[in-house]
Amino acid sequence: MEQLNAIITGVGGYVPEYVLNNEELSRMVDTNDEWIMARVGIKERRILNEEGLGTSYLARKAVRQLLTKTGTDPLEVDALIIATTTPDYHFPSTSSIVVGKLGLHNAFALDMQAACCGFLFSMDQAASMVQSGRYKKVIVCGAEKMSSMVDYNDRSTCPLFGDGAAAVLVEPTTEDLGWKDSILRTDGKGLPFLCMHAGGSACPPSHYTVDHRMHYIHQEGKTVFKYAVTNMSDLSAQVAQRNGLTKENLAYIVPHQANIRIIEAVAARLDMPKEKILVNIERYGNTSGASIPLALWDYERMLKKGDNLLLTAFGAGFTYGAAYLKWAYDTK
Ligand code: UT7
Repeated sequence: MEQLNAIITGVGGYVPEYVLNNEELSRMVDTNDEWIMARVGIKERRILNEEGLGTSYLARKAVRQLLTKTGTDPLEVDALIIATTTPDYHFPSTSSIVVGKLGLHNAFALDMQAACCGFLFSMDQAASMVQSGRYKKVIVCGAEKMSSMVDYNDRSTCPLFGDGAAAVLVEPTTEDLGWKDSILRTDGKGLPFLCMHAGGSACPPSHYTVDHRMHYIHQEGKTVFKYAVTNMSDLSAQVAQRNGLTKENLAYIVPHQANIRIIEAVAARLDMPKEKILVNIERYGNTSGASIPLALWDYERMLKKGDNLLLTAFGAGFTYGAAYLKWAYDTK
């Protein structure tokens, strides 16, 4: 039997309309545009502020656009994986809600909790499923309503995050394209540095946890920054090295968008020029599991069939990874 490769055949995305810019943020907490731009590189982020809407709403919009763009019948979809850290509910899964709303009645669905690495981990799973020959159409969606766990009284975290979703369709081909290689890791060192303290089974919600503001993102930024730079750079270098990828034959790096200084450090380690890094952090902030597919969505028109892409991410856990993807189509 011919070897099956797993390719991305389309991208859909959605960001909410409301724009929270640095100007408005600086009226909420003691911060300013200069600090945020210099230290993080974010100008504005999108916020889903309609009452009662959660991550599944963002995911639904992105997946619906993907189905339309690729001319896919919802009944043809075999599986949906949603990478999210901000599910609508503890249970049922956010993906089950999306399946129901969009009529993906022949799909099984699951959520992937791997924080900002969720898209990479999910892609690796989807690629294996497609390469096995048992699944023909798998959707991977990164979707986050980060604003639901941001403390807008905490200046050390509230400028960083935004909401959004983007989804890709993964299908088989016998051409030499698609998901070629990955190195993914989870080290278990991250809990003290990046977590939400309450709301889970270890510390269920109570008056105490609400009074002590324990349902928000807690991050020790400096420590996370160091781990992010080291791990993203190391794994990216390893994936590049073992696949013979260099600044000459790599079309783009597609990094998780947490901090422009992290992105630049990873690019410097790989000796990649600025024009070869896909960056949209300035407009969306850190959208966690959605940030890599949102970058693919934003820059889809620039990508050409056969382009070598290096994807890399770092997130809570800690989770980290790098992957080599050969882009499979030109956008008309
Ligand atoms: O997405 C997955 C994982 N997350 C990441 O990868 C994020 C990694 N960490 C980071 O990106 C950075 O550490 C941050 C952007 C979170 C913070 O940047 P930093 O350069 O590490 O700043 P810092 O926390 O060390 O703070 C430096 C100074 C402090 O003042 P002092 O103590 O030097 O007087 C802070 O109080 O900046 C101050 N500061 C602010 N000033 C204005 C912190 N937040 C702000 C703010 N506006 N919003």
